[in-house]
Amino acid sequence: MKRYSIAIAGGGSTYTPALLKTISDSRDCLPLRRLVLYDIDRDRQELVHGFARILFREQYPEVEDIVATTDPEIAFADVDFVLMQLRSGGFRMRELDEKIPLRHGLVGQETCGAGGFAYGLRSIPDVIEVVKAVRRLSPDAWILNYSNPAAIVAEATGRVFPGDRRLINICDMPIGILESVAAVFNSHRREFEPRYFGLNHFGWFTHIYDRAGNDILPGLLAHIAENGITPADPGMAEKSWLETYSNLRRMVRDFPGMLPNTYMQYYLYPQKMVKKSDPNYTRANEVMDGREKRFFEELRLINDRQTVAGSEYASSKHGVHGDYIIELANALANNTQEIFLIITRNNGAIRNFPAEAMVEIPCRVGKNGVEPLVVGEIPPFHKGLMEGQYAYEKLTVDAYFEQSYDKALQALTLNRTVTNADVARALLDDLIAANYDYWGKLFR
Ligand code: G6P
Ligand code: MN
Repeated sequence: MKRYSIAIAGGGSTYTPALLKTISDSRDCLPLRRLVLYDIDRDRQELVHGFARILFREQYPEVEDIVATTDPEIAFADVDFVLMQLRSGGFRMRELDEKIPLRHGLVGQETCGAGGFAYGLRSIPDVIEVVKAVRRLSPDAWILNYSNPAAIVAEATGRVFPGDRRLINICDMPIGILESVAAVFNSHRREFEPRYFGLNHFGWFTHIYDRAGNDILPGLLAHIAENGITPADPGMAEKSWLETYSNLRRMVRDFPGMLPNTYMQYYLYPQKMVKKSDPNYTRANEVMDGREKRFFEELRLINDRQTVAGSEYASSKHGVHGDYIIELANALANNTQEIFLIITRNNGAIRNFPAEAMVEIPCRVGKNGVEPLVVGEIPPFHKGLMEGQYAYEKLTVDAYFEQSYDKALQALTLNRTVTNADVARALLDDLIAANYDYWGKLFR
């Protein structure tokens, strides 16, 4: 059986340890010969590197090569898969992405609205640079990209690497929802097959089929309207995610018939989302004080003790996020032909939506890549929402490539979480100042 070389771009991410645990437990379908961690933050990544060596020594000794590097030339030579999880600007810039819009009375979120706009303009060049390096050094590698804001990143990479069928953009939110849905039925998400359409962080489930082919969505919607739904992932049992899931109940009551992505809350109830936000303590602060702190403490402990014994990595517990990415890698490596929700070019799958748009839809996945399923015609409400959002995404990417302040202003004005041109201009000027180290002279 072929043994694989996997590179993780963004090796110092808080998501990497759980991902490595999944990789370690996937040796039957995706045997590893070489692991490369790549990051621009050497110290942060060194902790993960130490962890990787300990985990693999104890649980996966067959892996010969465990490399950590800040050099793309080393990272992306001789790789079969690149798992890409860049966070341009880190949590420090995420904090500003959330707080600056809130200062203007607008939704402050890392991927939606003005925050996602700012993050997008930082991500585009970083993602392009990594993809270019990978393509130069390992032309046939599968690149599984889930760097955010995925919609904008996909639109930009789609323009720079138009025919690249081995560059695949994904998001774990629908799968997180599906896992929570499965819990309602005391089942597992892999017992269900979703039908879904939209843009990234902007879509709807239209059907959820069980193994017998029955659509469980109508019953599920009634259940959610009545009882609500909570996240199944234990890592999400915290206030903000519980509130986000509780808004699903609101949404299926207001707009019956489909199950929306949780992120629709920001576009459908923007004022409400602003009102319950604390402009001085946002999600970035929660993550830095919670997940990130725990991540550092746990990794330091494991590095000090030189064993994962006594940590969560000693058990067989996995995170949804890492599992999903490795399931996708498995489908590509072993031609499983399973259905995944992928961000891909529409090409007529949604009949009444632009062919060139990067949409999130079900695709069959195998050795030859992703093949979208037909979605057909979508209703006017969803189509209208998506057209506005897609125009915003396109203008954001235009603004980047044309270095156009005018396009940037159009993009922000068009975003449903902004809409007022005066506010958009003041906001844009604040974002330009705050992102100077990243955007530089982009709009000057
Ligand atoms: C979901 C989304 C990701 C996003 C993450 C944020 O998983 O699909 O795109 O990065 O949520 O979660 P956090 O816990 O960092 O707020
Ligand atoms: Mn996502």
